[in-house]
Amino acid sequence: MNDHIISTVADGVMTIRMNRPDKKNALTGDMYARMAAAIDQANSDDNVRAILILGTPGAFSAGNDIADFMAIAMSGKRDSMAVFDFLERIIMAEKPLVAGVDGLAIGIGTTMLMHCDYVVSSEASLLKTPFVDLGLVPEAGSSLIGPQLMGHHRAFSLLAMGEGLSAADGKEAGIINKVVASSELETSARAAAADIAEKPRQALELTRNLIRGDRSKILKRMREEAEMFGERLDSDEARQAFTAFMNKGRKKAS
Ligand code: COA
Repeated sequence: MNDHIISTVADGVMTIRMNRPDKKNALTGDMYARMAAAIDQANSDDNVRAILILGTPGAFSAGNDIADFMAIAMSGKRDSMAVFDFLERIIMAEKPLVAGVDGLAIGIGTTMLMHCDYVVSSEASLLKTPFVDLGLVPEAGSSLIGPQLMGHHRAFSLLAMGEGLSAADGKEAGIINKVVASSELETSARAAAADIAEKPRQALELTRNLIRGDRSKILKRMREEAEMFGERLDSDEARQAFTAFMNKGRKKAS
């Protein structure tokens, strides 16, 4: 088995690391399935009090693997997309989620942050969701949470126009709690997770549930988006965008 996802538990914190740096942590079906399994394990392990999601230096995640998108579009097997199982897990996660972001956070690399309870970012981060440029629509319930979090105009520029957010912009928009130097990122994110893990368990759980509110609405929107997203994968606009990305790689190699 490859080590593209590494999950470990120590001191009450489960760390889930996306670890495919040669592809900027682009996420495959296998990686989503392993992250979903790790969250299941965290839910059922009383020793886990918080979950910390990390990438690697310079790349939190470049989003869904585009070759995987292309393969799904060609095969028509949209029902079995592991990404949507992962998204259900992250939306319904029973333990608080902390993310530590250094560098690129593209597509789901950004939208998964909307489900985290606390996000630490390095100064070097770029949050970007080029869904429309790829012929796609937003996912992860971001079309619902995005405007609630940052207002219509900023959500539109992020989700529809594909404009990026720097770490400072992300903090101002409310999707990032704290910005630190890259060299301090993991220490700072780990400290936040450890702090959460030490809180009185029941009071924290009740408080988190009150703050998160009714998650069924987010799940419903996520499923509506997923339906549309699956259809869009098979559109001419999406196929052209995926082919252009894949050809860019071939040109670089020749
Ligand atoms: N899917 C598959 N492979 C990806 C990828 C993705 N989402 N993102 C990056 N990679 C691969 C590249 O193809 C390249 O592979 P190669 O070395 O075998 O050619 C490698 O990761 C490094 O990427 P590269 O493009 O050379 O790095 P960069 O620093 O110039 O650019 C990005 C980084 C993330 C800006 C650029 O790779 C990109 O735009 N990726 C696509 C992001 C995206 O649209 N994600 C989907 C959102 S829904």
